[in-house]
Amino acid sequence: MAQLQWNDSLSIGVELIDGQHKTWIEKYNALSSAIEMRQGPREIAETLNFLVDYTAFHFDAEEQQMAAVSYPNLDEHHAKHEELQTALGRLIDDFQEEGATHILADFLDTFLGNWLVDHIRSIDVQFGAHLKDKGIELAGDA
Ligand code: FEO
Repeated sequence: MAQLQWNDSLSIGVELIDGQHKTWIEKYNALSSAIEMRQGPREIAETLNFLVDYTAFHFDAEEQQMAAVSYPNLDEHHAKHEELQTALGRLIDDFQEEGATHILADFLDTFLGNWLVDHIRSIDVQFGAHLKDKGIELAGDA
């Protein structure tokens, strides 16, 4: 299964958010490894839950930063976050009902990895550009 690798093309120029994206990728890779190594359902469920919980934390933190600076695209951005969280919710239901590791593996390989990278590069980067354009530095950022 594919692992994601952080590189500078994923930077949105905001240290605080880049750091969260790095952690997000680590959680993705941990789940991918757990599936690849054919770990048991309990271990896979644990790494899946870590990823889902961290996704919710990151989206919430990112949207709070957007709200704090009255980012004009917040609603649109929130809708993208909701789309993924809905998909993750369905995935968890399938996994809990069927223990279907192959569905999880397909989801990661064909959807989630691409979604994360595309979202950072095409959507999150707009927030970074907005902050730069307005000369805003986030609290807690370097
Ligand atoms: Fe970094 Fe919009 O998620």
